[in-house]
Amino acid sequence: TQDLQKYRPQLHFAPKANWMNDPNGLVYFKGEYHLFFQYNPNDSVWGPMHWGHAVSKDMITWEELDIALYPDEHGTIFSGSAVVDWNNTTGFFPDEPGLVAIFTHHIHREGEQPSQSQSLAYSHDLGRTWKKYGGNPVLGHESKMDFRDPKVFWHKETARWIMALATGQTISFYSSSNLIDWKFESEFGEGIGSHDGVWECPDLFKLQVEDSEEEKWFLIVSIGDNPAFAEGSRTQYFVGSFNGSNFVAEHDDIKWLDFGRDNYAGVSFSDIPEEDGRRIYLGWMSNWRYANHVPTEGWRSQMTIPRELSLRKTSEGFKVVQKLVKELDAYFSKEKEVNDAVIEGTETFKIEAPYLDLVMNFENVDATKFGMTLEHTADQYTSISFDAEKNLLVLDRKTSGDIDFSEMFSNEQLVKIENTDNVQVRLLLDTSSVELLINDGEYALTSLIYPDKVCEAISLFTSNGSMKVSNSYISIPSK
Ligand code: FRU
Repeated sequence: TQDLQKYRPQLHFAPKANWMNDPNGLVYFKGEYHLFFQYNPNDSVWGPMHWGHAVSKDMITWEELDIALYPDEHGTIFSGSAVVDWNNTTGFFPDEPGLVAIFTHHIHREGEQPSQSQSLAYSHDLGRTWKKYGGNPVLGHESKMDFRDPKVFWHKETARWIMALATGQTISFYSSSNLIDWKFESEFGEGIGSHDGVWECPDLFKLQVEDSEEEKWFLIVSIGDNPAFAEGSRTQYFVGSFNGSNFVAEHDDIKWLDFGRDNYAGVSFSDIPEEDGRRIYLGWMSNWRYANHVPTEGWRSQMTIPRELSLRKTSEGFKVVQKLVKELDAYFSKEKEVNDAVIEGTETFKIEAPYLDLVMNFENVDATKFGMTLEHTADQYTSISFDAEKNLLVLDRKTSGDIDFSEMFSNEQLVKIENTDNVQVRLLLDTSSVELLINDGEYALTSLIYPDKVCEAISLFTSNGSMKVSNSYISIPSK
């Protein structure tokens, strides 16, 4: 018999049953956030892809709906995006605006190479049912085998649609007036960024620079798993400019969106109303290295909590800043506050909770090592420590519970941070994940864990010195 509930997240979206990977078609329309996702309804491992579907009013509580897109004569349904066609540019919406999904058809005919092309589907009923466009596919390629994951947005300045598409180890940009006829504009990526794996799931949008009027274009590129690299699949980003045709990065260094192993293929919501103004992103909380083997039964994978993105100007150039959406706050109430406590050695707070959220400000640190232990059970714990001599944050999940399904799972996860004299930690702990955001969102580290129980206690610790803990609190579920 299956235990479908073991490790099932309480706050993160996971399908009721079977396999999920990338978030697809993230779009806001008429009061609902839509989350489509790569879905195999027949098994809890990857297989013939469909688009699963869920909706939410607050991006935290999701209702899973019927499958939105099924495979057809053009192939299975790979990743893609969705937009609202406000001005009926497609001609699909003579009466009222509706949703258009732009996705990849993937087909592998016997004796042939696999082939990928872009197709459309549209909905007149708030995404509940979909019609495939009769002229599918709308964009193919003669020679490129990797030709997928279209992310489409309306480019105001040139008044046309732009598609960012993963094309091997580059991103190609196409333009269109009607989502049907596409014209090649440019290709980005040669000689820049990480090429440790195939490029997938791009997204391109403008981001606000914190505390300024300045905006920059921001390009997300996920990188597929490559056994030669210890990290498995991961996601990089570029900061630069886009003139409606070409993207130009303004840096040569490689920038990682998340320093944990479990945040992949993330993209942002389309059509968030202007009066809201947020750019909200979420990722698939797994890693291709072991996603098919994680120890859940009957279902596999979950999404990150949606995050609001912005840019921060730092001495190391522009950095993406990620904050868990504020809608999450309604799910918690403060259980324990810590103010002006000086910690030397270990201090333990007993907190029994099915999931929790905390903020810790570690100040005036003169210890060589300090941090926090999440004590799941008497002998299962996850450690989050700062090495003050090397300026490193280390998440260690070796002792966090079930780790046997992948050799790579027990590797430490490291982030080089600018300085450890004062650090702020925001941490969301759910049934089988940790989302860590350091210094008001400047560094993200997302990591799965499989403990038997979520939390019995939280310990703060230092070695060789002390630290002050101020304005800090641990929150537990509010209901
Ligand atoms: C990324 C990805 C995409 C593809 C999809 C297939 O995780 O490989 O490039 O469209 O998954 O499920």
